[in-house]
Parts: sequence; C-alpha cells; structure tokens
Amino acid sequence: MGRALDLLIDKDDLRSCRLVETDPPAPSDGQALLSVEHFGLTSNNITYAQFGRAMSYWDFFPAEEGWGRMPVWGFAEVAESRVPGLAEGVRLYGYLPPSTELLVAPSHVSERGFVDASPHRAGLPAAYNGYTATASDPVYEAGQEDLQMLLRPLFFTSWLLDDLLGEADIFGAELVVISSASSRTASALAHLLSLREGVQVLGLTSERGVAFTEGLGAYDTVLSYEQLDDLPDGRAVYVDISGDAAVRAAVHRHYAEKLLHSSVVGATHHDQLGEVPDDLPGPRPTFFFAPDRVASRSAEWGREGLEGRIADSWHPYVSWTEGWLRVQHDRGGPALRSTYLDLLDGKIDPSCAHVLTLQDAVTP
Ligand SMILES: NC(=O)c1ccc[n+]([C@@H]2O[C@H](COP(=O)([O-])OP(=O)(O)OC[C@H]3O[C@@H](n4cnc5c(N)ncnc54)[C@H](OP(=O)(O)O)[C@@H]3O)[C@@H](O)[C@H]2O)c1
Repeated sequence: MGRALDLLIDKDDLRSCRLVETDPPAPSDGQALLSVEHFGLTSNNITYAQFGRAMSYWDFFPAEEGWGRMPVWGFAEVAESRVPGLAEGVRLYGYLPPSTELLVAPSHVSERGFVDASPHRAGLPAAYNGYTATASDPVYEAGQEDLQMLLRPLFFTSWLLDDLLGEADIFGAELVVISSASSRTASALAHLLSLREGVQVLGLTSERGVAFTEGLGAYDTVLSYEQLDDLPDGRAVYVDISGDAAVRAAVHRHYAEKLLHSSVVGATHHDQLGEVPDDLPGPRPTFFFAPDRVASRSAEWGREGLEGRIADSWHPYVSWTEGWLRVQHDRGGPALRSTYLDLLDGKIDPSCAHVLTLQDAVTP
C-alpha cells in the first residue's frame, strides 16, 4: 500500500480543514487494514461534523488533538488481514473516515461481514460499527454502489421514521409537515408516506428548492419558508430536518394543540439552530436518532428481519430516485476539500449528489 491520505477538520472551526499524507498503519494480530474505495457526501456528513463533539461522531475515527475525521458511508476492501476467517479482497459497506484507509479490529466475523471491536468504538452506537460484506448483503447490487453510499443511511432513517409514524397511526394526524423538504432524507420519507392511505404530506423548503421539490411528486403540497403563513389547518405532525428554530416556532405556533407530535431529525440549517423555548406551543420536540430505532426494531425482529423489510422498500425507492438524482464523481484531496466546504456553506443542488475517492491521489 502507498501513502495514506486523510481530510482533517478543525473541531472548533469546521471551515478550517487540511489534507495530510501519512504512512498507513500496519495491522497487528486481530486487526485488518481496509482500503477505502469511495464514499458519498451529503449534508448528513456535515451534521456529523457539526455534532461531532456533542454526539461523539469524532470518536469513531480519532485523529491528532483538536482535529477530526468526519464519518462518511462508503465501500472498502480488506487490503491486509491478520484476522482468522477474514480474507483479503473482501468488499464491505460501512462507516468510514474520508481517507484512503481504516484500521479495524474485526469481531463476529462471518460471511455477512464483521463488527469493528476497536476499544475506542466500544461505547458508540452499534448501528455504526458493523461492516457488511457486499457478497451477502440483501440491499447490495453491483450497478448501484453510488446510490447505496449516498442514499442508504438516509433511506434507513426515513424508513424507520415512516415505520414509527405508521406504528403510531400518524399520532392521529392527517398531515405530516417536513422541513428541508428538498433533502434526500426528507424526500425519502415523503416518498414512503405517499404510499400510505389517508395522510397528506407538506414539504417546507427554501425558495430555490420549491420547483425541484414539487417536481419530485412525493409531496401533496410544497411551501417555501417565506410562505409559513399559508400552512393549512388540521391535525399535524412535524418532522424537522432543518433544525431551524424560527421555522419550528412558526409550525408549533400555527398548529399549537393540533400539533400531535414533533420529531427532531436533522440540522441542515446549522447556522439557524436554537434552544427550544419553554413556552413553545404544542408538544415538546422529541429527538429521533435512527440507531436507537435500529436497536429497538432489531431486538423485536432481529437484525436480518429489519434489514429484509428495509430491502423490500429500498429497491422501488432507488428506481424512483433514478428519475431525478444525478451523481457527480470526483477524485483526490482538493476535490474532497472543496465539496466538503460547498456542502458546509449550503451550496447544494438537491438534484446532484457527490461520490468521492482518494485512491490513486497520493504520492506513490
Ligand atoms: N436523526 C437521525 O438519525 C438522522 C439520520 C440521517 C440523517 N439525518 C439528518 O437529516 C439531515 C438531512 O441530510 P441529507 O443528507 O438528507 O441532506 P441533503 O440531501 O444533502 O439535503 C440538503 C438540504 O438541506 C438544506 N441545506 C443544507 N445546507 C444548508 C445551509 N447551509 N443553509 C440552508 N439550507 C441548507 C437544503 O434544503 P432546504 O432548502 O429544503 O431546507 C438542502 O437541499 C441532516 O441534518 C442529517 O444529519 C438525521
């Protein structure tokens, strides 16, 4: 293996980032070195950085003091293995650093993949520690790796949200209001809800996102953040993917006691966040954390039972996205850095998603 390349982000100033080249670590007994092939980048990864300290996202892939490696979802190959039962060349999908390599300590090794049991990951959510072998993954299709990297973690979240809302019979509401409606997480939820009877879905987005969001065909109504006075009446649920305090306050004020549930899912408007005031009308917003729901549904159905159910919905969803999602491929450190900074600044075309690789980009 040649030199390793990493994107490091200043934990105190997310705009400050740098590319570093190092010698790749050598695996000891019980460890394997993964070669990171390629990975997706969306606002979800920016949220990992934004909440890196508060929610321990920096702890998955430690870096030098003060700097972090922002987690990404992608594909990797076992480049060197000192683990019985784990062959070199096995391809995996999972949680990775924006780097050329990752040192792991596989446990529970099987033909389905393994769990990274490195001590620093022991206390972190289990949903992020598993690596799934492509050869036995029910979701995997060779021609769809881009969409899997970009959309799978978001779709899993949306599926789990739809499952939660369905289980609760939409909390007795007839309308689901979703903010940051142009995001992949929001549109996947709208797509799933549109398959349910008797529920209307309203998307809130920025002015520039209205035409795109309407064009998706998954929302019954689309309003811009400037049109919050036009929210319809009725019993509603709010799914907040923007994290925008002013939008949340407007939705809660409008529906008040007719707001039957308020779920905090994302923070795409990371410069508009704010505390929830004590006098906010309606229910207290509840934080939805996909790994917690994965854990509870896995306990009920088994991990394979959960993944099988999601796989059934995944394939029709992917066919739907192929009608509107374009994938942009880029290679190398400078491209990774500029894509990251554009996403951080909200310079996002919701019809385009980014796949990056650092392979073949380092000094031989
Ligand atoms: N709780 C969980 O378990 C969980 C799991 C997965 C994802 N999430 C969260 O869901 C959110 C959506 O992620 P995604 O990857 O689906 O997003 P995405 O597809 O990259 O969509 C980005 C959208 O976010 C808005 N946006 C992004 N940056 C902005 C900025 N700087 N200023 C203003 N608007 C901005 C825009 O939507 P609008 O113009 O429509 O507002 C934009 O179209 C993330 O915060 C992610 O962390 C949470």
